[in-house]
Amino acid sequence: MSLAPRAERPWWRDAVTYQIYIRSYADSNGDGKGDVEGIRSRLPYLKALGINAIWITPWYPSPQKDHGYDVADYMDIEPDYGTLEHAQELINEAHGLGIKFIVDIVPNHSSDQHVWFQEALRSAPGSAARDRYMFRDGKGENGELPPNDWEAVFGGSAWQRIVEADGQLGQWYLHLFAESQPDFNWENKEVREHFEDILRFWLDRGVDGFRIDVAHGMVKEPGLPDVKADSKMLDKDARPYWDQPGVHEIYREWRKIFDSYSGHRMGVAEAWVSAESLPLYLRPDELANSFNFQFLDSKWDAKIIKKNIKETLKNLEGTGAPASWVYENHDVTRKVNRFDRGLRGGGVSDPKQRYGNMKKFSIVRGTQRAAAGALLMLALPGGAYIYQGEELGLPEVTDIPKDRLEDPRWRMSGFKDPGRDGCRVPIPWTENPDGAYGFSTRHSLTAQEAWLPQPKGWGSFAVDKQEQNQNSMLWLYRKALKIRQNEEGLGDGELTWIKAGKEVVAFSREGNFNCWVNFGKTVKLPKGAKVILSSQPLKGRKLPKDTSVWFRG
Ligand code: NOJ
Repeated sequence: MSLAPRAERPWWRDAVTYQIYIRSYADSNGDGKGDVEGIRSRLPYLKALGINAIWITPWYPSPQKDHGYDVADYMDIEPDYGTLEHAQELINEAHGLGIKFIVDIVPNHSSDQHVWFQEALRSAPGSAARDRYMFRDGKGENGELPPNDWEAVFGGSAWQRIVEADGQLGQWYLHLFAESQPDFNWENKEVREHFEDILRFWLDRGVDGFRIDVAHGMVKEPGLPDVKADSKMLDKDARPYWDQPGVHEIYREWRKIFDSYSGHRMGVAEAWVSAESLPLYLRPDELANSFNFQFLDSKWDAKIIKKNIKETLKNLEGTGAPASWVYENHDVTRKVNRFDRGLRGGGVSDPKQRYGNMKKFSIVRGTQRAAAGALLMLALPGGAYIYQGEELGLPEVTDIPKDRLEDPRWRMSGFKDPGRDGCRVPIPWTENPDGAYGFSTRHSLTAQEAWLPQPKGWGSFAVDKQEQNQNSMLWLYRKALKIRQNEEGLGDGELTWIKAGKEVVAFSREGNFNCWVNFGKTVKLPKGAKVILSSQPLKGRKLPKDTSVWFRG
């Protein structure tokens, strides 16, 4: 496929987007929680890093039962994080620096504190207010059993029974996540219209795109059949609430709204669907990007990674859509740990799979692999997503005291799965521990007082420390992003595979640009290879294990 020159292509075809988990990024008012003004103060850092866009996790008013993914009002800002004015200033200032701005939208469910849900609770069964959510009568003689066998992603039944206005136990409502996150009824016209208004509200404020939470989940199979009775269950990923054909109709409507604005506004789907289904979300009249979770799910293994890249590119053939590579986000174990412990990234609910055997964890080896992985991802055709702290090589924090864990998964798994807090620990900006390693403006704030405690030694990963060292992870990302930015066609375009041994993933791109990643014994680069960048210093033409190199030749 031949591509238009970069300047004429939609920005999202090859953008590198940086994910900000707002609560953990930068705290401007000393309350131990990140906020909008904190992010604003760090825009120069992001500009220097060389990313093209930021995606900010939900910043709306929320009881924070799932840290913002339980939205109480989609058209305002959480008071702990700032105001609408602050948000507008941040969007404008990012734009002034040439950085695109993506907000998170959560359409599958709201908070139970949303006015609509509160109204539904007060209203009678069968009322218009109840119809905006998924209320059903229970089974059993007195409706004492849940309406079906669906399970919540965080654990336990996906149904919660309510007490009706008359004080009696009554109907049940569906929550595919926590019980404080009731699912909307997407068959309801008002729900659809409300979300279209929300999109316009933020588009009018200049946002360039939306990261769509649980993008494969809004539409449920008619009749809400039991999972166990569903014949499709032969396929373990098929569920009557995931990836239903009806979701695509929603995105076609949303795309019309995006396209009615100038500047290539877009949607990126958080859709945990099969590799074959994923391209459907990327049809020309639907969404621009969809996170490649098949890639995120790959273990540090040459064969698996190569296979997953090949399959991704093959599945996208003919759609015209770019791939969206991603290793980390606020839901998965950091790749330093995963790559060292041979873990997959997604769908973790088994506590042993979350961190692997920590007794055998080597941070040196994990960091080396994470660096090698970074050069691999940033050389692939398409866009890429980086999660805050990934550029610092942050490891997972695996020993947060149990009484400090906040992820609802911890509670809903019956206190078995520690959940996702280990990748959400506030960012260390300074080696000096004051102000929780520079996370907070309150200098007296200790690492223990940040909303999630930071571990001892967190300062060794700090931005100001890494800035001093040209061989740090931070500099590797900076250099790689700069090269990528200056190379026409490195983000978007074609890839040609090169045979360089079983344990080497090697490919070339336009302009004689090569990327080799060595997973096994030392190999030699071709004669005349002119090294542009490597994930660790090289001796001559030797490429050691767990190392990546970019070169011409
Ligand atoms: C996916 C989000 O990334 C995750 O953090 C959240 O808990 C669920 N969706 C529910 O909104």
